[in-house]
Amino acid sequence: MQYIGNCHNTSDGVEKNQVEIKELKDSILRLKKDKNATIVAHNYQVDDVQEIADLVGDSLALSKYCAQDPAEIIVFCGVHFMAESAKILSPQKTVLLPEKDAGCPMAEMATAEALREEKKRYPDAAVVCYINSTAEVKAESDICCTSSNAVKVVKSVKQKRIIFVPDQNLGHYVAQQVPEKEIILWKGFCTTHNKIKAAEVEKIKALHPDALLLVHPECKPDILVFADFIGSTKQIIDYATKSSASKFIIGTEMGVLYKLKKDNPDKQFYLMAPGLVCPNMKRTSLQSVYNSLKEMKYKIELDEKIRIKAKGSLDRMLEVR
Ligand code: 13P
Ligand code: SF4
Repeated sequence: MQYIGNCHNTSDGVEKNQVEIKELKDSILRLKKDKNATIVAHNYQVDDVQEIADLVGDSLALSKYCAQDPAEIIVFCGVHFMAESAKILSPQKTVLLPEKDAGCPMAEMATAEALREEKKRYPDAAVVCYINSTAEVKAESDICCTSSNAVKVVKSVKQKRIIFVPDQNLGHYVAQQVPEKEIILWKGFCTTHNKIKAAEVEKIKALHPDALLLVHPECKPDILVFADFIGSTKQIIDYATKSSASKFIIGTEMGVLYKLKKDNPDKQFYLMAPGLVCPNMKRTSLQSVYNSLKEMKYKIELDEKIRIKAKGSLDRMLEVR
């Protein structure tokens, strides 16, 4: 990886030199071995954290991995709903979120109470919830989905009418792909993807007219119309890696650039808009991963009744092929 000068900012705001970073990484790996832990990281994590993880992936890949991995402790470098999903699927494991305030604003845009009200309005509808939701909302839903399987999940549901919660942009995209269903959209959105403006996309496309545009479905419909490919973070990385094209404009959070550049040193990547940073994903640093393992914090705890119901939604999603 590239360092600027001798120092590197590890996202905790403390400048560390390369020797200190190496020592911290070695200490984390020693602790991980001693405690029989696994470290998983989402594709939006800072480079240093991605480097020490056993698996880096999108929400679907991480949920599947955590459910099968034999380690007793999972350190989840991501945001709260992701660590919570790991705990829902593996209650016998200790699941740690290194930064307790790393939440996803979109997940907070739907409450179980408001969803129960919506279900009363549409008693014949099935509820499909995006994995970016709380355990309580998952518990009120029929089936979960991620950005990589949302279309398949919605097609798999037998009801014609579907309440899709909480991401209106992903829900709108799915509705276009599955016109035979009537999708009732919730009003939630991702505070990072939702703010991208069409003018910004037009500008970067004009600068790189021969680049392919790969976009996450959390972007608004007026952004998705420009896309050559729409997919989850992992699907975007896989698409660019397999493609014979050499230039790509990336329409998702900047963290994906780490793997894209590492796996494709001869290709060019440009971020679709300057503000594509998720501040919550960027809270986790090497230091917080170390503290998390050393002090066994912050443990995800769940009400068992909610967990069992939420697990039903996740299990039904994992059965969809
Ligand atoms: P992915 O499942 O595509 O990794 O997305 C998770 C997310 O929070 C995107 O903002
Ligand atoms: Fe939530 Fe958006 Fe951050 Fe993803 S990028 S974790 S949806 S705020």
